[in-house]
Amino acid sequence: MTTDIWHYSRRGLAEQVLGMFESGLSSALVFFAPRRMGKTEFLLKDMQPLAKQEGWDVLYFSFLDAGANAKQAFTLALADFAVEVGAIKWDKFHKQIKKIEGGIAGVRAGLEFHDPQQVQITLKEIITSLAKKQHRVLLLLDEVQVLAQDDRNKDFIAALRTVLDMHKDFVKVIFTGSSQEGLRRMFSKSDAPFFHFGQNLPFPELQKEFIEHLAQVFHKATRRKLDVEELWQIFIEMDKVPQLIRSLVERLVLHPDLTLQQAKQQLLEVIAEDRQYIRVWDDCSVLECLLLKAIVISERELFSEAHRLRLAKEMGVDELPLSTVQSAIRTLKRKEIIGSLPERGLYYIEDPNFKSWIERVIINGEAR
Ligand SMILES: Nc1ncnc2c1ncn2[C@@H]1O[C@H](COP(=O)(O)OP(=O)(O)OP(=O)(O)O)[C@@H](O)[C@H]1O
Ligand SMILES: [Mg+2]
Repeated sequence: MTTDIWHYSRRGLAEQVLGMFESGLSSALVFFAPRRMGKTEFLLKDMQPLAKQEGWDVLYFSFLDAGANAKQAFTLALADFAVEVGAIKWDKFHKQIKKIEGGIAGVRAGLEFHDPQQVQITLKEIITSLAKKQHRVLLLLDEVQVLAQDDRNKDFIAALRTVLDMHKDFVKVIFTGSSQEGLRRMFSKSDAPFFHFGQNLPFPELQKEFIEHLAQVFHKATRRKLDVEELWQIFIEMDKVPQLIRSLVERLVLHPDLTLQQAKQQLLEVIAEDRQYIRVWDDCSVLECLLLKAIVISERELFSEAHRLRLAKEMGVDELPLSTVQSAIRTLKRKEIIGSLPERGLYYIEDPNFKSWIERVIINGEAR
């Protein structure tokens, strides 16, 4: 089903979920698990292929990657999907959509709705036409709590709930989230927009078979043996986070002379360093973070009008005064995160390891 040999199939769980939908027992599920526990991997490599194989039309969408304009990005992705499965014609949207500079994340990058109010109307239209096809549709909505972080998305979330409720016989949804508080705000508080909408399920942890699978693949790939018991113990020590144990095994593949314990030690050191950088990053304001990214990719025109417009767009505000950018830069300097070269307007990140962390984790989106 997937070409990733390291992937440990969770087909059983996927079958169970699909069975619940097919029997009509439920039409929406909410999976909660902390970060890096394998939710996205499950959606993409188990749920999506199985549902497709069983004849469902499936759309995966990650709100985490969608940025500040999540509702637009989602609606555009949904429109694209509806066109693809033949529920609607793209011409229908032409008048509503304009091209913008820079663009938002997603399939239809560089497009935007003329009228933000139009977005929820369009959302309802699309889901209604998907349901009209009377063909089963599965929406995999990853990190959906991101939507609820922004008060401006309130109407949109309400519209989403209403239309999903209306068409729950044909349109099924799996929501996932890694923020317990965020999910609570969306699903379980009595005034939450999706209150009592979906069934809440804890995302099951991976068990020893997962570790046996990793050891087997390791053996196939390297002809070397891994001690399953020792690896299992380390997995438990690492709170059963699959991403960490995968990094550890990858490390062992690349460095044949390392013992399991040495590889674990190295990994723990990397994690400690990352934690420290995450703290620094999380302490920065949204604007400071955007500026750090710009500095890392050697953006020279930090203060130019064009750049400020781009920043404003990403922050979801109309404009960004020069003085605000200057003040954020001053703060970053005061915190000794950045320094400036004598040549005016040139900035650099003080700690080269932090710079490569931003590149690796923030810009290239590697696991953090
Ligand atoms: N079934 C699996 N088989 C093999 N590796 C897995 C599996 N599930 C997760 N992993 C490993 O764990 C990593 C993290 O998984 P994933 O990105 O799915 O987690 P997540 O719960 O979506 O995390 P986040 O909340 O950060 O998005 C994957 O990149 C992969 O290396
Ligand atoms: Mg994920």
